[in-house]
Amino acid sequence: MVQNLNWWHNKVIYQVYPRSFYDSNGDGIGDLRGIIEKVNHIVDLGVDIVWISPFFQSPQKDFGYDVTSYLDVAEEYGTLNDLYELIDLIHSKGLKVMFDLVLNHTSDQHPWFIEARKSKDNPKADWYFFADGKGADGKKVPNNWRSDLQIKSGWQWCNERHQFYFATFLPFQPDLNWRNEELRNEMFSMIQHWLKKGVDGFRLDIFGAIMKDKNLTPNRINPSLFDTSGPHLIDKKYTANTEDNFELARDLRAKCDEINPESILIGEVFAPVNVLKNYLGKDPISKKDQTTEGNSDRYFKFPGLNLVFLFDFLAFRYSAEFFRKKIQKYELKFPHPLQPTYVFENHDRARLMGRVNNNIQKAKNLALLQLTLRGVVTVYQGQEIAMENTYIPLKKALDPIAGKYFYWIPEPINKLIKERLNRDEVRTPMQWDDTKNAGFSSSDTTWLPVNTNYKTTNVKVETDVPDSVLNLYKKLLQVRKTNSAFKGSLEIVNCDQKDILMYQRESKDQKILVCLNFSNEIKEVNYEVKEILFSNHELNTAEAKCLKLQPNSGVICVD
Ligand code: GLC
Repeated sequence: MVQNLNWWHNKVIYQVYPRSFYDSNGDGIGDLRGIIEKVNHIVDLGVDIVWISPFFQSPQKDFGYDVTSYLDVAEEYGTLNDLYELIDLIHSKGLKVMFDLVLNHTSDQHPWFIEARKSKDNPKADWYFFADGKGADGKKVPNNWRSDLQIKSGWQWCNERHQFYFATFLPFQPDLNWRNEELRNEMFSMIQHWLKKGVDGFRLDIFGAIMKDKNLTPNRINPSLFDTSGPHLIDKKYTANTEDNFELARDLRAKCDEINPESILIGEVFAPVNVLKNYLGKDPISKKDQTTEGNSDRYFKFPGLNLVFLFDFLAFRYSAEFFRKKIQKYELKFPHPLQPTYVFENHDRARLMGRVNNNIQKAKNLALLQLTLRGVVTVYQGQEIAMENTYIPLKKALDPIAGKYFYWIPEPINKLIKERLNRDEVRTPMQWDDTKNAGFSSSDTTWLPVNTNYKTTNVKVETDVPDSVLNLYKKLLQVRKTNSAFKGSLEIVNCDQKDILMYQRESKDQKILVCLNFSNEIKEVNYEVKEILFSNHELNTAEAKCLKLQPNSGVICVD
């Protein structure tokens, strides 16, 4: 029956991908003023925190995840003044704002790297992760470390220094060396700078890769198709989730505390759940904390990151059993005051509609599920209007991964894969209305094509249709906000029907039952409830100790 301890507990984050949100100046690319103009959409939705994907200066080879200045806005996105205005505006609406920080690497065009690569005795020489090669000519890679994409070595040759630099992601994204004090201080002061400007927290891009083993110990040959970090031949023991990396999480927390102890840090980290928890600090829950339930005045201090994304739902199987198991797992591993952070969509992975064959009722069921779970929720722009993946052949990809690694896959095969290999497909412009370019831009061409379904799937149309997905999100977000049970505990309720998922949410003064039918048939569940508080299907009923649920639908009931 636990209650909120920290302001961000149980809150809902909305991810804005600025390039595709709204284009205010007609150049075919979204921008900061576009977010300003459309901020009321986010406010009306009823979310709490706005996470803005990178808008910093960048050559945009990885669309902002390749930074050339952490302190400036990319020209195509606007100016620093636009940014300050946006921060103030979001705050004035009662919401918080979170930036996306790429701390592991910069662009190879960053002035620091341009310096560092010049020579071994350049003042910035040690700011990046360079190492000597092997073999008589020193041109063999230093060890077997691979890039995140696993296909190739992560080491990149630098002719000027006659050395290699390491790039966890793509070759044009050289990894920074966080063991260098100057670099470390520079990065910390950049982070503090943004906190002073009023930013409330950060999403930390591939945070788990930052502190690689300083002795360059080779990784183990350990083939796996189904590891949490993706398929691989060689594991990442010495390149990800090292002890030093957990320590960095604590150091970063301490640096943020100096400016704003209430700021939040959310890590993009990939690891088995017990390893993930190390990012939250050594022992984030003491016995005492576990027993002082219901004391909402207490502020719980996190020694490391506050949250780590839980990505299992990105590749969900649409079944009650799948979700029951995951929820049980994370309830066990992330007990209060820890918070699970379930993610259905983001700018890297297939939109959920593709996994349910674009079935709207199933999308409504997943919304009901996600927004009634314990923990912090993230919603990716467009998820709230059920945007679909927009098929774009690999050869046409702007996404550097698709363009570099997957271009050779025949299209008939690409089309069959549920996971979209071309990330462009999940980054197409936000669909605002049924006019030109879905109302995203007045330009003749947009940076990525607009999905052809925009005439029916868009914010305007869905605002006017009472039972649209958009209105469902809005209502659910209100229900979540206004019922204290959603700040309380979660317990799975046993049910002998395999397609039914039931759980109770409970606070000091409220008990709620959520019941979801994951089958294509009408289901009757013997359970007595006081009343239905919310339903994602108009024909669901609760009569004579029996809940009657239409296919792929569910209810929230007062228990
Ligand atoms: C993260 C981002 C992704 C980016 C990569 C490299 O996974 O979400 O978009 O390409 O890191 O920074």
